[in-house]
Amino acid sequence: MKLVVAITGASGSLYAQRLLAMLKEDPTGPHEVHVALSRHAREVAEAEVGKLAIPEGFPVHGDASMQVPYVSGSARFDAMVIVPCSMGTLGRIAHGYSDSAIARAADVFLKEKRKLILVPRETPWNLIQARNVVTLLEAGAEIIPAIPAFYHRPQTVLDVVDTVVARILDHLGLEHALTKRWMEPEMPHD
Ligand SMILES: Cc1cc2nc3c(=O)[nH]c(=O)nc-3n(C[C@H](O)[C@H](O)[C@H](O)COP(=O)(O)O)c2cc1C
Repeated sequence: MKLVVAITGASGSLYAQRLLAMLKEDPTGPHEVHVALSRHAREVAEAEVGKLAIPEGFPVHGDASMQVPYVSGSARFDAMVIVPCSMGTLGRIAHGYSDSAIARAADVFLKEKRKLILVPRETPWNLIQARNVVTLLEAGAEIIPAIPAFYHRPQTVLDVVDTVVARILDHLGLEHALTKRWMEPEMPHD
């Protein structure tokens, strides 16, 4: 797949790191993954994980310049994931601001009817944020809130993180064995 993984200044750097690692390791790859960092992404990542771990071979782009491959509809991409997605970025996309490479790319993915997955972490939501989420759902975006599940009895923080990353991979249509599936027999490689 050819993907954009955008990381913004919301809490949840671990979700982005784990998703990138899974994309790198995916045996159905190699995937072409462009990593886009918002101005605040590194700041929050610094607080949460120190230096953000980005797999070798995945080009990293900033958010200020439009000289990046994914801001034009003419460039073919399969999907964009914004993880974690701040409510600021979510709101700008919902209102078509296109004032940064990430917001513009999201605009492009929506207009080209390409898969756009937003992973907000915020809690609780105010009415403005809730309405922005509805606007994006109506426009065709997929919202996967970073809300972990616990019915797998996760034992580590990574297990908890994986319950969210598993859903992102599911929505990208990629196979994985990150979590057991409810009422399904375990895969041989689990
Ligand atoms: C430690 C820290 C954690 C934050 N967590 C969140 C969050 O979970 N959700 C959110 O919407 N904003 C969060 N913010 C605020 C955003 O970083 C801020 O709104 C910023 O303008 C987002 O810009 P961006 O969307 O361009 O990355 C956090 C800020 C800091 C410093």
